[in-house]
Amino acid sequence: MSCAAMQEQNPIVEARSVLASARRILVLTGAGISAESGVPTFRGEGGYWRNKSYQELASPVTFKRDPRLVWDWYLMRRQTVNDCRPNAAHVALAKWTEIARWTRDVQLVTQNVDGLHESAGHPDVIRLHGSLWRNQCTRCGKEREEKSLNYGQLPVSPCCGALERPAIVWFGEAMPTKPMAMAYLTCLACDAVLVVGTSGIVMPAAEFVINAKKRGAIIIDVNPDDDAVPAHIKLRGQAATLVPAILA
Ligand code: OAD
Repeated sequence: MSCAAMQEQNPIVEARSVLASARRILVLTGAGISAESGVPTFRGEGGYWRNKSYQELASPVTFKRDPRLVWDWYLMRRQTVNDCRPNAAHVALAKWTEIARWTRDVQLVTQNVDGLHESAGHPDVIRLHGSLWRNQCTRCGKEREEKSLNYGQLPVSPCCGALERPAIVWFGEAMPTKPMAMAYLTCLACDAVLVVGTSGIVMPAAEFVINAKKRGAIIIDVNPDDDAVPAHIKLRGQAATLVPAILA
């Protein structure tokens, strides 16, 4: 079926049919999948805190100048996410992936650091941007799980006794090698991509979709608003409604 013909059909039915016949599927999620759980997206109102943009706060330069400011922002985000639960989209993806993986390759790649896919019981999450729930030693780079919601004193690492930072990829920093390699291999091999809740403008995730499309993969996109995802099938609506409907 041509891509133009696909657009004319019911997009939920078309998305289901593409996913049912695909052998290798990449699922790519962004901040929008967690919006209905109560986690603010970046390019909405949640992108500002104490009059500072998230680009300024998620920055190694700002951390060097004022680690307390950056930590306070991340602690605020931990507190927000701590009160949130996975929504129907996270849960449907986790359950569907468990079953689909018996017969197909399905790989979730997320730009999110909130941990809600993991809380929903997702079997295998590639995190491109790190985790809100991990600290990293600023001296040796070693990471550890950390759930604290407040720090009287900024945290120091058990390994080196050095200041710790959030284990999150900041603007201007290199992407983590292993997740990047795994995500890249998945995008080269997949025949369908399900994109949920991302603006489609942040590299490298945006590039994964473009590469997969160039190699012939069918791109399905779930988003209530316009985005830059070059999709064959655009489903306009909220993730917690549409994702369970597609994966039913
Ligand atoms: P954005 O905040 O840029 O975009 C969120 C997208 O989700 C938008 O396109 C919204 O329209 C869409 N959206 C909102 N509510 C939704 C819902 N209920 N269901 C589905 N979609 C919904 O977030 P990302 O594109 O994920 O990186 O941003 C990627 C990266 O930009 C983030 O990981 C962050 C930031 O730089 C770092 O901090 C390293």
